[in-house]
Amino acid sequence: MMKRSLSSAAAGLLAFGALAPGAMASDGQVDPVAFVDQFEATAGKYEGFRRSGAKGICAVGEFVGTPEARALSVASAFSGEPVPVIVRFSVGGANPKAADNVRGQRNMALQFDLPGRERWQMGNISSPVFGASSPQQLFDLLASRQPDPETGLADPERIRAFNEANPEVLLQGAYIAAQPVPASYASVNYWGVNGYGFVNAEGAVQYGKWVFEPSGGVQGLTDEEAKAKGPDFLFDELRQRVAEQTVAFDFNLELAEPGDKVDNATVPLPEGRDKVTLGTLTITSVAEDAGGACLTLTFNPMIMPEGVKPSADPMLAARAAPYAISLSRRLTEGAKQ
Ligand code: HEM
Repeated sequence: MMKRSLSSAAAGLLAFGALAPGAMASDGQVDPVAFVDQFEATAGKYEGFRRSGAKGICAVGEFVGTPEARALSVASAFSGEPVPVIVRFSVGGANPKAADNVRGQRNMALQFDLPGRERWQMGNISSPVFGASSPQQLFDLLASRQPDPETGLADPERIRAFNEANPEVLLQGAYIAAQPVPASYASVNYWGVNGYGFVNAEGAVQYGKWVFEPSGGVQGLTDEEAKAKGPDFLFDELRQRVAEQTVAFDFNLELAEPGDKVDNATVPLPEGRDKVTLGTLTITSVAEDAGGACLTLTFNPMIMPEGVKPSADPMLAARAAPYAISLSRRLTEGAKQ
């Protein structure tokens, strides 16, 4: 494996891989094969693993929606009846051996299995913002961090120039670098970062951005505690926690007001926006090994129930095809996690 040298800003993002001219399609989307190739070129290629969020564990849970959610959306997820959910927790990045005890991105991806064969898939990250606002910017960010095959190092001058021209790409890494190492997968906030619309029975649309907040509160480790935990504690910690206590998250929606930006994942909603609790997600069991339902799944943020619709954020549609390509590559190679 080549040696990698990534800034902390990029490390969370590359928690996900020169492109070749022609990667950019006329509709502003990046060619999805070129996208996944670039993830591999920048972050490394680990056969059988997700090209982003590689080190992960599958769990299952159930979700119960609130009356407040039903007022905002007709989505069957909010009926108030328990809905089964497949959950995948992961460490950001393409490296399946990424250390759990260093500061970095954590992820929580979900699939709600809804009545009438509807599904709702989403990937959420432990930062309120993402490191790119458009597919092309993400592609160029990855390319700017691509290591030289000879030295294994990226070109600092290229990185500096890219950052200077695109300062918003540093916000995600800066947020994550300022947070402690999470004590548990169940003790950190997970944001959707992309905006969605919620459509109620009258057809009214409320846009917003969501965050899953641990019911037991956010808990971080001191640097000494993190060091003592070693690089692989999160899977067992989660298994033990779920066996011993209730592990749950509030699914909260921050409501956008007129004029707020909901189509840019590098811009959070302004502080102090009203927040509605849409329901509670409770984790009921954790896979014993690397298997489980997540092995053959990808979490495509364009799969959602009636009553929820995507915002105009170009990152949403841009994710569907690269996720499918990553899935098909890891299945072909022999899915490992
Ligand atoms: C154009 C933009 C993006 C591209 C091309 C991209 C690409 C990818 C790829 C290839 C994977 C691996 C998929 C698999 O093998 O199943 C992945 C996983 C993931 N991505 Fe993205 N991503 C993008 C944007 C985002 C954004 C904005 C978020 C923030 C919410 C995000 C969150 C995640 C998460 C949480 C996972 C891990 C999901 C799992 O556990 O299966 N991604 N991404």
